[in-house]
Amino acid sequence: VRVLLVGFGVVGQSFADLVEHEARKLDHDYGLRPKIVGIVDRKGAAISPAGLDIKKALTSKKQSGTLEGLGHDIYHEGRNGVDTIKDLECEVVIETTPTELTKGEPGLSHVKTAMMEGRHVICTNKGPLAIAMPALMELAHHNGVVFKFSGTVGGGTPILDFAKKCLEGSTIKSISGILNGTSNYILSRMTTEGVAMEDALAEAQKLGYAEADPTYDVGGFDTACKLVITSNYVLGSSMSIKDLDIKGIAKVTQSDIEKAKERGNVIKLIGRVEKVANVAPQEIPMTHPMNVSGTFNAVSFDTYPGGEVTLVGKGAGGKETASSVLRDLIEIRRTFAR
Ligand code: HSE
Repeated sequence: VRVLLVGFGVVGQSFADLVEHEARKLDHDYGLRPKIVGIVDRKGAAISPAGLDIKKALTSKKQSGTLEGLGHDIYHEGRNGVDTIKDLECEVVIETTPTELTKGEPGLSHVKTAMMEGRHVICTNKGPLAIAMPALMELAHHNGVVFKFSGTVGGGTPILDFAKKCLEGSTIKSISGILNGTSNYILSRMTTEGVAMEDALAEAQKLGYAEADPTYDVGGFDTACKLVITSNYVLGSSMSIKDLDIKGIAKVTQSDIEKAKERGNVIKLIGRVEKVANVAPQEIPMTHPMNVSGTFNAVSFDTYPGGEVTLVGKGAGGKETASSVLRDLIEIRRTFAR
């Protein structure tokens, strides 16, 4: 499978590294031989139809912040995503550029162009989906391509397909979740260590969990994106982020946290969809299964007749999200085979 990576930040690099290290297993277990024929980042594009030297690409990116270490015949400074998607022969485009929530760009143009060019698309960028998910699903269908976005919700935890496939036959009455690793990390550090919000955010940024624009994490917008994607995918709604009432954690104080503790509760940033959808900090009992710490995510599905089902797992991080991209690629490969 020839793959074009658009975006080469934490997730893109982790995915390239994963594919490099797991090559033998992927071939043996799934008959999957991913060949990365192009990588586009903010500064330019590296292209090689025979397959790029991934070790070299990773080293170059680490040392100079660009892909120029791959050499002048391979690296094209200033070449952008849309043009590369149009020109480079490949089966799958993997879009991992940062989430942007005013217009969803440049991710939205990357995803649309890839679909119109007949490429299957894997997207970890939440912007295009939070803004235009129904239209993108339609565009994928119209162009006969597979559109996968497991990594947009839950990092490496398979929340979307868990709900869609494993809860088949049940009615999902509501979904509540801790969907942002960064704000859960911040609230956990404030609760257990008394660390100030700004310091905890700086830690989360250093660890590579936060969005390029961290107000998306703290302001509740990242949770809102994930709620929109989950609701549309699992419940069949047609929401966009504009339909949600969104409150973040910026106003949560140490004193709020202490008062909640006295009541046997913890404060969590929760996204919830029943008839309407909203995001807000809320108190939950310390004993509740959604009381997870650090960058864990937890999603509770209230189902009929099975009752409450809660899924917990790491919700942010390069390696974790790369594992979702790989799952999506395996599924695309399986679809080809069929
Ligand atoms: N910034 C996001 C988070 C990354 O903290 O959950 C994963 O989507």
